[in-house]
Amino acid sequence: MITLKSMRELDRMRRAGSIVHSVLDAMEGWIRPGVRTKELDRRAESLIRERGAEPSFLGYMGYTASICVSVNEEVVHGIPSERVLRDGDLVSVDVGARYQNYHGDAARTFAVGGVSAPARRILEDTRSSLERAIAQVRSGAHLSQIARAVESVARERGYGVVRDYVGHGIGSRLHEDPQVPNFVSTQLLENDVELAEGMVLAIEPMFTLGSHQVRKLDDGWTVVTVDGALAAHFEDTVAVTAEGPEVFTRAPREAHAGREAL
Ligand code: MF3
Ligand code: CO
Repeated sequence: MITLKSMRELDRMRRAGSIVHSVLDAMEGWIRPGVRTKELDRRAESLIRERGAEPSFLGYMGYTASICVSVNEEVVHGIPSERVLRDGDLVSVDVGARYQNYHGDAARTFAVGGVSAPARRILEDTRSSLERAIAQVRSGAHLSQIARAVESVARERGYGVVRDYVGHGIGSRLHEDPQVPNFVSTQLLENDVELAEGMVLAIEPMFTLGSHQVRKLDDGWTVVTVDGALAAHFEDTVAVTAEGPEVFTRAPREAHAGREAL
């Protein structure tokens, strides 16, 4: 069931999104060679709580940390640990915050120190595929337009698109209907949801530098590329409004950035 959010709910989600944004912004300064991924988790959790929210992921399906930190061939759901980040790593950080029972969810991939040209390229291209996807968001558009926008960037630039994990509706639950795939399929086209004012979606392209195939590690969470190739992941929480997309997980002045790309 897809829920349409009221103004009051959207306000809470706007606040949750801004807390997530502030954590990802701070992350930029925390991520450097020598830092442990657990330290990033600790700092993120403090900041979320300081701002009056709770980490959405902590305890979700038994998850034991507040954020996900996925390094190099890890795609998503990496568990923070004693692992030390090194110069040249490509690290994806996913953050969720619940404010007055409503969630915000976003992710970014960061370069640790200097990274290889292909690493820099996949980071930039995954980010721009999310930008292109957000530009599709308006009342009357269809989910497949989001999927097509992401997939076309991957095809032009030669990346694998992860299919086993997808974006999602979001609200008082972290994962709500509909699923938001990053590729077009007959299944999607046969049940192509029309976007309507009040829907809120977490759009989250995941690209790889090789095969799109992934597998889960024995820890029950960490998702890695089967061939060990680098991966990147960007995610934003986006509302469908009368004026087009509103990105909750950005600074207010950038919240409507997607509209210019229309
Ligand atoms: N942002 C992640 C997603 O939408 C949520 C991670 S779930 C967790 O898939 F349990 F790993 F935290
Ligand atoms: Co998500």
